[in-house]
Amino acid sequence: MQVAIDGPASAGKSTVSKIVAERLSFIYIDTGAMYRAVTLLAIERGVALSDEESITTLAKAIIIDFRLIDGVQHIYINQIDRTDDIRTPEVAANVSAVSAIAGVREQMVALQRNLAGEHDVVMDGRDIGTTVLPNAKVKIFLTASVESRAKRRQEDFQSKGINLALAQLEQDISARDYKDSHRAISPLKKAHDAVEIDTTNMTISDVVEAIIAVVKKNQEKNS
Ligand code: CDP
Ligand code: CDP
Repeated sequence: MQVAIDGPASAGKSTVSKIVAERLSFIYIDTGAMYRAVTLLAIERGVALSDEESITTLAKAIIIDFRLIDGVQHIYINQIDRTDDIRTPEVAANVSAVSAIAGVREQMVALQRNLAGEHDVVMDGRDIGTTVLPNAKVKIFLTASVESRAKRRQEDFQSKGINLALAQLEQDISARDYKDSHRAISPLKKAHDAVEIDTTNMTISDVVEAIIAVVKKNQEKNS
């Protein structure tokens, strides 16, 4: 069984996907973290973002593992825990350029399909319902207003002791949404058979219940 969850930055995809996966005893796969991983390595190794060939080579060699430690999902890049390092504003500012590179997408999509072939999964990202798992039984498209998404991101950083201006976050999120929706390969787009949920005025648990209801309905239909 595959549950595909797509949507723009900070719509709540990873937060709710994690909980939905736990509830269903499925594996959760955060595909955004994979593009962030490639971006982090490119920055650290001083590779220019315009050097598509070198970044593709890097994506071909990267080893990414997700491990659950005390209920928290950690990402290991080349055997080292880099969970916090992939969430910096610098990585966020550069990830859309890296994820638009054809060779990078090819590598990441192949890895994602392998993972989904081995387990029941909840997978979140931008192109899961359209490209990675076009036959997923359940497809969800999560949205929310830019204002509320910026506020959520601000609160996330605040909880780590980092204060970021709301206007700047709104601008960053809008810029990333624009790049992700306008790139040539697998742009962010609602799959024609996805259920859209506007989470602007919903709590996390409201969203989780709405998704579980779609999954249950699908399971009943197919039983
Ligand atoms: O958590 P947040 O919404 O900030 O983003 P993310 O899910 O961590 O994804 C980071 C970036 O990776 C996105 O802005 C996209 O550029 C890229 N991405 C993608 O191209 N395709 C995916 N399936 C997932 C993420
Ligand atoms: O993965 P994505 O970028 O779509 O979003 P996220 O990283 O899950 O971040 C969403 C933030 O908004 C988290 O801090 C959540 O606690 C919060 N939030 C939410 O996810 N859903 C709501 N309905 C309300 C708040």
